[in-house]
Amino acid sequence: MYEDVAALIGLKLENWHTLAEFARMLQAEFEQHRGTAWQQQIEMRERGAVILVRGSPLPETGGGGYVVVFDDVTQLIAAQRATAWGEVARRLAHEIKNPLTPIRLAAERLQAKLGDKLSPEAARALDHATETIVAQVTAMKNMVDDFRDYARTPLPQLGGLDLNRLVAEVLALYEQSGTRIQANLQKNIPLVRGDPDRLRQVIHNLLQNAQDALFGSSDPKIDVSTELSGGQVWLRISDNGCGFPEAIINGAFEPYVTTKPKGTGLGLAIVKRIIDEHHGTVRIENRTGKEGGRGAAVRISLPLAA
Ligand SMILES: Nc1ncnc2c1ncn2[C@@H]1O[C@H](COP(=O)(O)OP(=O)(O)O)[C@@H](O)[C@H]1O
Ligand SMILES: [Mg+2]
Repeated sequence: MYEDVAALIGLKLENWHTLAEFARMLQAEFEQHRGTAWQQQIEMRERGAVILVRGSPLPETGGGGYVVVFDDVTQLIAAQRATAWGEVARRLAHEIKNPLTPIRLAAERLQAKLGDKLSPEAARALDHATETIVAQVTAMKNMVDDFRDYARTPLPQLGGLDLNRLVAEVLALYEQSGTRIQANLQKNIPLVRGDPDRLRQVIHNLLQNAQDALFGSSDPKIDVSTELSGGQVWLRISDNGCGFPEAIINGAFEPYVTTKPKGTGLGLAIVKRIIDEHHGTVRIENRTGKEGGRGAAVRISLPLAA
């Protein structure tokens, strides 16, 4: 655009050889608003840009003429759109989620009330239908939660945070899960700049994925470690599951990339978003350990609190 404009310096509007359509629009605006200022937002589709154009006439006493000012508002508009979408997603999630609990409870009540009044065959059918309702409602609730978390826009509240403490707190919730989780937290590491609620979610999402990957494994094991290195704190969560499938390893952070029948593909997208907001880094890799160990590993770095 800027090169195009340079070639037009000194030319009258009607002689613009490039951006001719744009020149016609400027002329039309000035004719229509004879003597008054105007402003117009133009979408330049082929360039993917949005330009705000303002025109005002100069006083006749100074010889007349016009001033036109352009502002590239592409980024601004994109940010507004993202915020608006986030809001739509949040409300939609809320509206969808509200009726889910009553649906589930109603199904369970039907089963409880009718179960012993039916023939064995009908009771089996009722059991089956109730199970389906409950399972699908649960899946829908999880999907909506992920969707809401992904669309959630408020910026994290960054403050000094003891990462080890947060990790320990989340791991305590997984104690009953049956998966062996080994924590290897470096003592006395400095505080990071973090939002506990958002980082808790990161750890949850990663542990959830590790558990999914270990489903059916005979010796499931998850390792969680923290370490100070290179002026940053590193969090590593690894498992001895199947590892990231080759086909998706490069796109795993994209929303809706999933290899699970009931997956949403939002877990890692949320992780990436949150870590970006913390000005940290996140990398995934497959382990090809010397001891024949395999599985997936996620490494996160976080800046220290000032
Ligand atoms: N620990 C892991 N081991 C193996 N594959 C994983 C692991 N974590 C994530 N993946 C792969 O990345 C995909 C995307 O993960 P995610 O964004 O959390 O979505 P979802 O869990 O809903 O599928 C998963 O479907 C899976 O194929
Ligand atoms: Mg997941």
